[in-house]
Amino acid sequence: MSKVVLITGASSGIGEACARAAVEAGHKVALAARSKDKLDALVSDLGADKALALVTDVTDPQAQERMFEQAVAHFGRLDVVVPNAGVGASARGTEAGSVESFQKMIEVNCLAVTYTAKFAMPHLRETKGHMVLIGSMAGYETMWGSVYSATKWFIRGYADNLGKELGEAGGRVTCLHPGMVDTAFFDEAKPDALRAEDIARAFIFAIEQPDHVRVPHMQVYPKDS
Ligand SMILES: NC(=O)c1ccc[n+]([C@@H]2O[C@H](COP(=O)([O-])OP(=O)(O)OC[C@H]3O[C@@H](n4cnc5c(N)ncnc54)[C@H](OP(=O)(O)O)[C@@H]3O)[C@@H](O)[C@H]2O)c1
Repeated sequence: MSKVVLITGASSGIGEACARAAVEAGHKVALAARSKDKLDALVSDLGADKALALVTDVTDPQAQERMFEQAVAHFGRLDVVVPNAGVGASARGTEAGSVESFQKMIEVNCLAVTYTAKFAMPHLRETKGHMVLIGSMAGYETMWGSVYSATKWFIRGYADNLGKELGEAGGRVTCLHPGMVDTAFFDEAKPDALRAEDIARAFIFAIEQPDHVRVPHMQVYPKDS
């Protein structure tokens, strides 16, 4: 069955790859991010009948409310919501990190995900839909002073809590935990890392499970070399 999928952070990396894979698999996508030019290019690649660009800063709750209104006005419903937008920091640890980078990571990686989940809930309740959070291998490991890693521990726990709330309404929640993926998240190329398409395959696996199946967590890591 064709699903309507809303993805934040869809202008690059994992979000873009999930959007491409979803359309390839016959689904429709609402694509949110701040970069209008990248979203417009992606819509013209995927086809305006299958994709919609929604220029949104996820840290603005009102902008997220508008994003949901526009997506549902356009496609009529939402079956899958993916709060994927996320940021990291270049400095290692806490002492050397800037307060601004801590604020940004917690705002985008944690707070904005709670807004997405809140505004998604009534739509997913209606369709008994699916929320797919993007955690990280960093949410399973102890990483020297890392605030970023702690934001992903938040996502891992929050996914289980949301799973109870949406589960009660007949929906389901998956948390996908990628290991290192070669995306614009890093300033330099990561040739030994996963490709965004590796995560997109896992994403399609999770959302295409039959209705009675729930995949709460999926870890997708690079093979040990
Ligand atoms: N790469 C990895 O190794 C890795 C591993 C594990 C988990 N992850 C997680 O995977 C997710 C995607 O990361 P990625 O690797 O694909 O990185 P990426 O290529 O840098 O993509 C990040 C996306 O987030 C969007 N974004 C950032 N701030 C935003 C904001 N305020 N409002 C709306 N959109 C915003 C960016 O779009 P705009 O700039 O256009 O707004 C972009 O589309 C993140 O949650 C990240 O923590 C990544």
